[in-house]
Amino acid sequence: MKKILDMLTEEMQKAFEAAGYDKALGKVTLSNRPDLCEYQCNGAMAGAKQYKKAPLLIAQEVAEQLGDSHVFQEAEAVAPGFLNLKISGGFLRKYLEDMKEDSKFGLTMPEKPKKIIIDYGGANVAKPLHVGHIRSAVIGESIKRICRYAGHRVIGDVHLGDWGLQMGLVITWLQDEKPDLAYFDEEFEGEYPKEAPFTISELAEIYPAASAKSKEDPAYKARAMEATYKLQKGVRGYRALWKHIMNVSIADLKKNYSSLNVEFDLWKGESDVQDLIPDMVNYMKEKGYAHESEGALVVDVREDTDTREIPPCMILKSDGASLYNTTDLATIMERMRLYDPDEIIYVVDKRQDLYFEQVFRCARKTGLVKPDTELKFLGFGTMNGKDGKPFKTREGGVMRLEELVRDTRDEMYKKIREGRDMPEEEAGQVAEMVAVSALKYGDLSNQASKDYVFDIDRFTSFEGDTGPYILYTIVRIKSILNKYKEQGGDPARTSLRAAENEAEKALMMQLTQFSAMMQNACEETAPHKVCAYIYDLANAFNHFYHETRILGEENEEKKSGLIALLALSRDILETCIDVLGFSAPERM
Ligand code: ARG
Repeated sequence: MKKILDMLTEEMQKAFEAAGYDKALGKVTLSNRPDLCEYQCNGAMAGAKQYKKAPLLIAQEVAEQLGDSHVFQEAEAVAPGFLNLKISGGFLRKYLEDMKEDSKFGLTMPEKPKKIIIDYGGANVAKPLHVGHIRSAVIGESIKRICRYAGHRVIGDVHLGDWGLQMGLVITWLQDEKPDLAYFDEEFEGEYPKEAPFTISELAEIYPAASAKSKEDPAYKARAMEATYKLQKGVRGYRALWKHIMNVSIADLKKNYSSLNVEFDLWKGESDVQDLIPDMVNYMKEKGYAHESEGALVVDVREDTDTREIPPCMILKSDGASLYNTTDLATIMERMRLYDPDEIIYVVDKRQDLYFEQVFRCARKTGLVKPDTELKFLGFGTMNGKDGKPFKTREGGVMRLEELVRDTRDEMYKKIREGRDMPEEEAGQVAEMVAVSALKYGDLSNQASKDYVFDIDRFTSFEGDTGPYILYTIVRIKSILNKYKEQGGDPARTSLRAAENEAEKALMMQLTQFSAMMQNACEETAPHKVCAYIYDLANAFNHFYHETRILGEENEEKKSGLIALLALSRDILETCIDVLGFSAPERM
């Protein structure tokens, strides 16, 4: 379906042409003076020079051509030469009717869908998820859903950190605590136990303790590094322990992510590409891309046009060990081989910006990707506390994601119990849904690259630019629709009518923006645009709601039109919150 502004523009172009002017002048935009008009066209101003004519005259001639337009109800030429426009109620109604019939509410699917891999989440196995991971999960999930909705083929990969020192730390800790385990017996040739020698809550304690110890005790750290090395070299018992750590930790990660409605298609990680590294390194050496520098193996990625210093991309350390870079490059290679994507998007802390610049350049220079494969870094800012510093627990420690979700849920539960008479169990479920909306909307409504302040009071408020406000609006609509059903009506069998007042028309106009907004949010990988849209939409709805008698309306035809408008508003709002990654309860 065509976008509404394109249709209005076409109509305007015809008028310019009919009046003898270049049709390119007929671009219609939303009005920046909503008090005066709904849409506007500034083409006559631009045409004045070209035609050496007063812009107001041109505008008047064009306006005359629109006298019997079925698209514009009003086209007025005003000084110094603007065209102030009002859309025809019938045309607007018809547009919404078509939207309603379309499975994507008018959003046109791409001719050539792209295959996109989104690298997000980035959890580290054996380490608890902390607030730093929430943004990647929340933003990445939303971008995945937006692009999918817009018709692309999207694969989400959590890209676990599962091959680093944390594994050696856990293994070393276990060795000290349970030295008799078969995993540490080098002579042992039998089968290792199926059960892990630790539970998730033990594992959650082990990593922080071992990590703290290694910071104070260099000998301990050296042992952990040695254990990491042995694991990576393939020592049998260590590999078996690693498998246990993976299983226990991943089950827990899945639980945590799912509490935020975050799901990955792939649970791959750094460990999956280790076997590809030797060949990749040889290839880079043989082709002359990589050279030695102070013992290390590097690829130069500097470019003449650089305005900042871009150091070489290090492929191997001087001791021959691979690095974070090496693994990311090997992962790109594997993704190209297995999926051949058109685009890979990385949703990672913006402080890794330079790092990814190096990796991308290296991948391009060495031909790991095709020239037209897009590599995109979507760096996000920090979630801060009210003091403007990175968010911490009350005690000043690192806030675990689990705690953050729980605190928000508790706060929401309190509010829901206070304000309403709702059974305990339902209140618990509703609190959970609303809390997810509060957290996610609070994050997503900011442009991703910016830092933001996590303010639990504001985020959980039912008023203002918040998730709960959006849900509240949806629930309000659902409740009216339910009452309509109780009265014997069927919302599915209603049809829209032309708006009868300003508030109704404003709501209808806001609905027509959906497809343009969604396409733009996808192209710019910008969930905050969806948030801004639904905030405006919810406001437009609530304004309309306060001005309009709906269920009490006596004229059945009129009532049916209002109900149809409500149903469409609900559908659009629910589609939008679904791509943001949360959903609305039936009541709250
Ligand atoms: N595990 C990393 C971290 O916690 C994030 C991984 C980001 N993705 C990537 N392909 N490097 O910082």
